[in-house]
Amino acid sequence: MSATTNTLWADALARRFAEVYGTEPDGVWRAPGRVNLIGEHTDYNNGFVLPFAIDRSALVAVRLRTPASEPEAEADVVRLASTFAPDGAGLSRAQFRIGGLEPDGVGGWAAYPAGVVYALARQAGASVPGFDLLLDSTVPVGAGLSSSHAVEVAVAAALNDLLGLGLGAPEMAHLTQYAENEFVGAPTGIMDQSASLMGKEGGALFLDCRSLDSETVPLPLAEHGLQVLVIDTRVVHSHADGGYSARRSACERGAAALGVPSLREVPAGASLDGLDEETRRRVRHVLAENERVLQVVEQLRADNVVGIGNLLTASHASLRDDFEVSCPELDLAVDAALAAGALGARMTGGGFGGSAIALIRQDDEERVRAAVLAAFVEKGFREPALFTVLPADGAGRV
Ligand code: GLA
Repeated sequence: MSATTNTLWADALARRFAEVYGTEPDGVWRAPGRVNLIGEHTDYNNGFVLPFAIDRSALVAVRLRTPASEPEAEADVVRLASTFAPDGAGLSRAQFRIGGLEPDGVGGWAAYPAGVVYALARQAGASVPGFDLLLDSTVPVGAGLSSSHAVEVAVAAALNDLLGLGLGAPEMAHLTQYAENEFVGAPTGIMDQSASLMGKEGGALFLDCRSLDSETVPLPLAEHGLQVLVIDTRVVHSHADGGYSARRSACERGAAALGVPSLREVPAGASLDGLDEETRRRVRHVLAENERVLQVVEQLRADNVVGIGNLLTASHASLRDDFEVSCPELDLAVDAALAAGALGARMTGGGFGGSAIALIRQDDEERVRAAVLAAFVEKGFREPALFTVLPADGAGRV
């Protein structure tokens, strides 16, 4: 979305905020979802990732409630409203108290803002007063495009500014990861928040998850007549379920057996023969995926965007066969896109559902879309949602 579109959207949200809460918000903040170009299940292994922030975002209008203006009892209450209720109708409302906030104490989408407040208190020593918040989002929920991280990052950016905390992007990434891990209960890594915070229009974020050193690598899609097509299988996944944490444990087991603190430290050419068969495949994926990220970065630095296609497809095969986090719908999306001429395709995000991405020539878009839809009909799968995305700027005040 362009800056003008974001401003119009923020103005509309601020007006709605005034209708809901009877006063103007202090401001409006935006944080995007992400697509991971490559580097899957490498972040929690201290490895490399290459995601980009997308032109679909969460937007929050926020007003701090100054104790003087509030009756005592209301001073530490956070009131929340969201314009995208699950049933698509009306406002979804929630509230929680900041005092005594504990994991499991807040359910549904309100857990994301609550988790950020919890993390700010515990990680940044911030004393957060009650506030009112109105949320809107264009990041599809459950599609593996980090809709929840977008909400967390938008709330963290708003409170960081309003409370003058002065937190930088890496600190906010750690903080929102803490919210997700300790409050929401999903043992996820640091990639999604980092992309949402540090993304740059027209580029992908090459991130070293050990140091959080980052570099924006150009991703000039339009200049090369290319597009990234998202195929949301609409198979809903949750990283609080067992599959994700089982993969994490397997990687930790592998690192321990190889005598290194994390899989990032496995020396090149190390033998994996001592590992049991399943652990060996998990480790093999992570080591090869880190290499593929470096190769993709090299291709992009050389302006060879078309050249990354095969690496994307190889990543999918490794996630499907060695890491086993794909599913029939994701495999079909990838296979159908490739058969219709995509230059490369892979699942993106944690897997077990969610979305695949295909790197396609602009001229092939209609053909690839039609082929994917037809393949899903033929298999009797639910109709996927298809849309293109562009690398966009990370979070900030609108
Ligand atoms: C999810 C997690 C990320 C990352 C990916 C897999 O998106 O939130 O931290 O682990 O899965 O690459």
